[in-house]
Amino acid sequence: MVTRAVITATGSYLPEKVMSNVDLEKIVDTSDEWIVQRSGIRNRHIANDTETAGFMGTKACEKVLEMAGLTGADIDDIIVATTTADKTFPSVAVQIQNNISAPVGVAFDVQAVCSGFVYALGVADSMIQTGQLKRVLVVGTERMSSILNWEDRTTCVLFGDGAGAVLLEAQEGTGDKSDRGIHASVMKANGAYQDILYTDGGVSTTQLSGHIVMHGKEVFKKAVGYLSEVVEDVLVKCDLEQDDIDWLIPHQANIRIIETAAKKLGVSMDKVVVTLDNHGNTSAASIPLALDYANRSGKVKKNDVVLFEALGGGITWGAVVLRF
Ligand code: UT7
Repeated sequence: MVTRAVITATGSYLPEKVMSNVDLEKIVDTSDEWIVQRSGIRNRHIANDTETAGFMGTKACEKVLEMAGLTGADIDDIIVATTTADKTFPSVAVQIQNNISAPVGVAFDVQAVCSGFVYALGVADSMIQTGQLKRVLVVGTERMSSILNWEDRTTCVLFGDGAGAVLLEAQEGTGDKSDRGIHASVMKANGAYQDILYTDGGVSTTQLSGHIVMHGKEVFKKAVGYLSEVVEDVLVKCDLEQDDIDWLIPHQANIRIIETAAKKLGVSMDKVVVTLDNHGNTSAASIPLALDYANRSGKVKKNDVVLFEALGGGITWGAVVLRF
């Protein structure tokens, strides 16, 4: 027998305010046509003053609890992936713990930017397998609009705000491929490329969060290369084949990156969950947002094999394979 980390419920939250590409044409020198062609994004949701990372993450967790038929009192631990925490400290995880009235347990944030959710799942899986966690909320929540330079058209048209979460529970498995739960995860980073996507400020330098600076073409090239490598690695690790994948749920940054990754993997686009047209790049929130959409709309079903992949600032990247 082995212990598996199984996703048993999902939830998400998007701010009410929607900003379309046409709205952005009034702010910077851009066009709906350019944004759609280059990125696939049509709308993004923009948080109001109360919709902080902690607030949105809490809302996503409440949806998870509702789906699971549980309350905060049933939750042991909370791991949050975010780059846009409400405060430098304490973590968003402890805020959510308090907001949902969860008891004393493990609660911490993970910072791997757009790969954050994949990292958080990998860490949660390891801790479940070593018996340290039993029933954990894994959350991705981001208020990217707070770190955008609204005069920089190369970045401000691409990002949005939102949150997604899953309930990850320890369950006994047989150890074979038919088990529900996480079968493999891979996490990577290459700090040599930290200057192609970063913020131009921070707590210990400018005492301000800074704004996103991105050398898009270089990030694009790295994304295409590293994502195809990591997808191969993660499949080898769990001894599954490309044909075994029912759904690819990629980080939602750019439709051209997603299509290239799917093609390299030999997965047709009707097996790829794409939600970026509706919410743009929400960093660590994008995979759980897409998963929750796919779960609630009945696309992804129990026992389907799902592959998550993401790449972000750092450069960090990673992938997870699981049976839903
Ligand atoms: O989530 C973290 C990971 N991030 C990513 O994966 C993002 C990766 N990169 C990308 O998605 C793409 O590189 C972008 C969507 C950011 C840009 O697409 P691109 O095809 O690489 O365009 P580019 O940066 O080469 O720019 C092409 C042209 C430039 O004009 P010139 O120099 O050819 O005259 C830009 O100045 O498009 C111009 N441009 C714009 N035009 C209208 C750049 N931003 C805009 C804009 N509207 N918003």
